[in-house]
Amino acid sequence: MCGIFAYNWNENSIPFLVEGLTNLEYRGYDSAGVFGITKNGKIFLEKATWKVSNLAWKVELNDKNYKSGIAHTRWATHGGVTELNTHPHFSTNERFFIVHNGIIENYAYLKEELIKKWHKFYSETDTEVVAKLVEYMFEKDLITTISKVTKKLVWAYALWIIDVENPDVLIGTKFGSPMIMWVADDACFLSSDINALSNHCHEFFTLEDNEIVVLENWKHKIFNLWKEVNREWEEMSQEFATAEKWKFETFTEKEINEAPDVLLNALKGRINFEEKTITSETLTELNELDIEQIEIVASGSSYFAWVTASYWFKELAWMPCDVRISSEFLYDTFLPNKKTLYVFISQSGETADVRESVKIVKEKGCLTFWLVNVVGSTVAKMCDFGLYTHSGIEIWVASTKNVIGQLSVLLLMALSFGSKRNLQIKEVRKIIWEIEELSSLMKIQLENTKNIRKVAEKYSKYNDFFFLWRNLLFWTAEECALKLKELTYLHAECYATWELKHWPLALVWPGFPCVALNLKWVLEYKTASNIKEVRARNTTVLWIITKGLDNSELYDDIIEVPETSRILVPFTPMIPMWLLSVEIAKILWKDVDKPQNLAKSVTVE
Ligand code: M6R
Repeated sequence: MCGIFAYNWNENSIPFLVEGLTNLEYRGYDSAGVFGITKNGKIFLEKATWKVSNLAWKVELNDKNYKSGIAHTRWATHGGVTELNTHPHFSTNERFFIVHNGIIENYAYLKEELIKKWHKFYSETDTEVVAKLVEYMFEKDLITTISKVTKKLVWAYALWIIDVENPDVLIGTKFGSPMIMWVADDACFLSSDINALSNHCHEFFTLEDNEIVVLENWKHKIFNLWKEVNREWEEMSQEFATAEKWKFETFTEKEINEAPDVLLNALKGRINFEEKTITSETLTELNELDIEQIEIVASGSSYFAWVTASYWFKELAWMPCDVRISSEFLYDTFLPNKKTLYVFISQSGETADVRESVKIVKEKGCLTFWLVNVVGSTVAKMCDFGLYTHSGIEIWVASTKNVIGQLSVLLLMALSFGSKRNLQIKEVRKIIWEIEELSSLMKIQLENTKNIRKVAEKYSKYNDFFFLWRNLLFWTAEECALKLKELTYLHAECYATWELKHWPLALVWPGFPCVALNLKWVLEYKTASNIKEVRARNTTVLWIITKGLDNSELYDDIIEVPETSRILVPFTPMIPMWLLSVEIAKILWKDVDKPQNLAKSVTVE
């Protein structure tokens, strides 16, 4: 949430800052701003509300003499979407310019204190308080001042500051929010994540909490408690080098189309596809530990992926498995158990509530495991063990292909734990064979989208939907409903079909369609009779059904999915349902890649 990008460079330009922001726009697209300073102290400040492209055309003709620059794309937390609330913010004397990612929880108290000292505020943001505080507490030099100012802040922050009276220098510091750095021969760059830099650099390093980085004439120094420290370079993975839309209208569609490859990528090097055996060293190591149960912590789509996995862990490995929403885990009573494997799942690996949950579990000395996509992300670094999903870059807000990657790895984990317990080797082989097949089935699903467009036309006219599921399809229904809500802003709720009679039927009428998931091996006959009760009330039913299961009297419209074994059914409705949400969103003129009010990674609590 919120993306920041900065440089200290020999040859430089404001449009370069905008390019960095464009690559970070998925972190927030409420407004964007840039600040640059020449070596003679001439400054440039420009801001624009909404998309970065609005800022881009404002700065288009700018020249190239700005030696240091800071830039910010905002996901509004304190105050509305206005130019005044847009970063960079500045001190009363207009000497200190600042961009910030995070939330200063005690900003109201600090603001009150500063108002008593005659500081005037022009915005509603917490960041402006930091700019004013830097001015108020300034003594001797900026590094000393910043180390004192940050002691007053109740986290979280990644802050980059320029002092107009010392244009050679750019200073950054962080606590709880991400900050990475890349150094070239004649330039230093700072960014919220590696995607801003993916086209330019191959190596980067991550700043640690409380460190202060000083960039001066494109040389850098990092201090921790006044001691200079060295950071290890990390390799930029190939996965991050292709942030292009290719032939697709939206990034979301491009990412959905990558799902069949992601499914197999997640298993590469972890399975011997010839022999159909599990070869992952990490999973072998896990199996040697005394683990009796699993507790899973995640949010959003990652949370729903885990719910499906919890069925697999129980069915295939006979392991108790509890799933927790990370934001609630933080404030629940934690009962540490040394025989529990605590698993944290996150596409970005930066989600604030997941990150904080890891801390709680680690403090009690329990075993932590990560499953993330973004290589080198915070959650991956914090946990004891883990696996990457290797889904490749997922840029825009809706999580799609990575969910497939998460499910693949989770299924593999369940198979691995199962094979140590009572799951027959031939059953493991059969499921591995079927996973490979599934990738081809998904490709066929992606080629046959005509019917989806037709269905989208009709269903874009409704405002409310029930998604109906049974058993193993619980998460799949929740995930499909989530995508519909996230991309189209239409209302959708999920219920177990049997539950309908307990109360949801009260809401059913012809204008409130039901999307019924009815797949072979998942109580299909019981679901069919529940749907009869819905149809008896003249409700429109969109039937998501295994090809070959005939219930023609039960539906108005149909989306068929290929038949799989019971274990794999959660995968098959996702591609058509995600595409259906995309199509409805397009018909309703919604921005598929940038749903209103959202951002890709939720890095603030
Ligand atoms: O990066 P994470 O997997 O931790 O993100 C979790 C959620 O914020 C994310 O899944 C969100 O719900 C997506 N927008 C859903 O499409």
